[in-house]
Amino acid sequence: MEGEVMASVDVPTRASARFESVPLTNLHAQYLTLKAEIDEAIAGVIAKSAYIRGPYVDAFEGNFAAAMGAKHCVSCGNGTDALYITMRALGLKAGDEVITSAHSWIATAETITQAGGKVVFCDTERDTFIVDATRLADLITPRTVGIIPVHLYGQAADMDAILALAKRHGLWVIEDAAQAHLATYKGRTIGTFGAAATFSFYPSKNLGAFGDAGAIITNDAALARRMATFARHGGLNKNDHEIEGINSRLDGLQAAVLSVKLARLPAWTKIRQGIAAAYDRELGELKEITTPVVAANREHVYHLYVVKHDRRDALADRLRARGVQTGINYPVALPFLKAYAHLGHRPEDFPNAFHNQSRILSLPMFPEMSDAQRAHVVDSLADFRAR
Ligand SMILES: Cc1ncc(COP(=O)(O)O)c(C=O)c1O
Repeated sequence: MEGEVMASVDVPTRASARFESVPLTNLHAQYLTLKAEIDEAIAGVIAKSAYIRGPYVDAFEGNFAAAMGAKHCVSCGNGTDALYITMRALGLKAGDEVITSAHSWIATAETITQAGGKVVFCDTERDTFIVDATRLADLITPRTVGIIPVHLYGQAADMDAILALAKRHGLWVIEDAAQAHLATYKGRTIGTFGAAATFSFYPSKNLGAFGDAGAIITNDAALARRMATFARHGGLNKNDHEIEGINSRLDGLQAAVLSVKLARLPAWTKIRQGIAAAYDRELGELKEITTPVVAANREHVYHLYVVKHDRRDALADRLRARGVQTGINYPVALPFLKAYAHLGHRPEDFPNAFHNQSRILSLPMFPEMSDAQRAHVVDSLADFRAR
């Protein structure tokens, strides 16, 4: 039991039992495990007034690149900016087409449009939720310039197939790794398969800041320089603006927090994988629930533990009544959002993304989760089945 950060809730049930509430994630519990170090790091930034750039940002960029096995890290304001900056630095032009997954957060697609490109959606694999690499080739036209696979929920896309296709057609690849810090593909940490990889440090991500934050990694020094230049008003040296850019910065306070947390990321990842293995085992008996499918040669880092159920909404209601918080990531697949209505897509264009959008349910998953909390989630799922 996580003491004062976890509440118990009374819920009306057959047995009028008192249940422990289980949140989807618990950021305060995580903070308490690191309180002394984080408080000291924040105090250090304040003592030095190192709010913008400075030693904490430099240190985090170095630490993060090293942890991901990349040569360069360009930090920025958030994971959305990371995508936009990368596409601008890769020279995306008006009318260029970029293919991405039909099943992601809107940031992946909206930044293509913001950077001047045209979004082309590709359906996903029904079991893994990641982009179906076998469908990509049919979407390539003379205007296609790049592919953005999303390592969704913490599982890598099929990078061999995607890179082979990209090479054949002269396309760049940006890995959207917002949800996949330290995930692996064929034993190698994701992030350096494509030209660059973009990360979000949104507070609830596997590596989360105390606000918005993001970064891009790459092994290409010239690209890293262009990205940093664009993100910093078009110039790396004060008053020397080589181009027009934007203002997208990781601030010193976030960098200091992230460096403390980065040291814990491998251990937290292992704990997430342990919780997922336990869920897999314990939910395996409940035939109507489909547990996450991990494709060959991947190490999933379970940013989200997403199950499928044909009566998803009723199940979520029942879990809520028993104090279990769940999420839907995401209730409407990208091609079917109002924002993309002008593309005129129909369900049959993206059968798997469409099928999954009404069945997916994200269960509580966070490193500080107790065995009792997990047991309560599993019991609640079993209770729904028994009704
Ligand atoms: C797949 C994906 N891409 C991009 C982003 C954008 O990141 P941010 O929220 O830091 O802008 C997110 C974050 O939620 C995401 O999940």
